Amino acid sequence: MNTITARVKTITKNKNLIIYYINIKKMNSKTPKESTIIMTEIVLPNDTNALGNLRGGKILHWMDIASAIAAGKHSNAVVVTASVDNVSFENPIKLGDVVTITAKVTRVFNTSMETHIEVWAENLPSQTRYKCNEAYYTFVALDSNGKPKKSIPIVPETEAENKMFNSALARRELRLVLAGRLKMHDTKELKKLFEEQAN
Ligand SMILES: CC(C)(COP(=O)(O)OP(=O)(O)OC[C@H]1O[C@@H](n2cnc3c(N)ncnc32)[C@H](O)[C@@H]1OP(=O)(O)O)[C@@H](O)C(=O)NCCC(=O)NCCS
Repeated sequence: MNTITARVKTITKNKNLIIYYINIKKMNSKTPKESTIIMTEIVLPNDTNALGNLRGGKILHWMDIASAIAAGKHSNAVVVTASVDNVSFENPIKLGDVVTITAKVTRVFNTSMETHIEVWAENLPSQTRYKCNEAYYTFVALDSNGKPKKSIPIVPETEAENKMFNSALARRELRLVLAGRLKMHDTKELKKLFEEQAN
């Protein structure tokens, strides 16, 4: 009986220790859900080009604001845009349509973090919803002296979040190569990706 009681006590102690460490880890990290923001806009005449479609520059501006808020929410710091990945516009957004931009942090590196942005539009009278584009922006968290500061780690939860988290390293290497900050032969994930494509 004494042995069983001792074992139960040890198991309870270990369980409490595990819960304690999980809570500590949670306190020092955030999930993508915690940084997710949804921004809604309506396309007004001033936002359109000669064809009556939303101007590309205006979408990029909204995407920048939405993703900066997500990055700021994750890091609880002032952030600056370090880079914007390739953006292709799949569908034009018409005057009067409602635009919904969803942004969240996908991965934190050190001082920089990647955000994913998705843009959808909706024509309210016809109740049609269509995807316009998606992109990745990179932000750097700054300290009170305007210097890059280490950001809070991120812990993905869902399968989709894990997928984005894992593929973020190759995207980071690609943007650093394009920015002239990394040599192609020094990349790991990117080289692996190219080798996989070649085989
Ligand atoms: C982005 C900026 C803070 C980087 O500063 P820096 O002195 O080069 O600092 P570092 O070399 O330490 O780089 C800091 C981080 O930025 C990342 N970074 C820098 N340039 C990058 C680029 N083109 N693409 C992706 N990440 C980049 C680095 O990889 C590093 O990330 P890490 O700490 O996670 O590894 C600086 O270049 C800057 O202030 N740029 C202007 C930002 C701006 O005005 N944006 C538009 C208005 S908000």
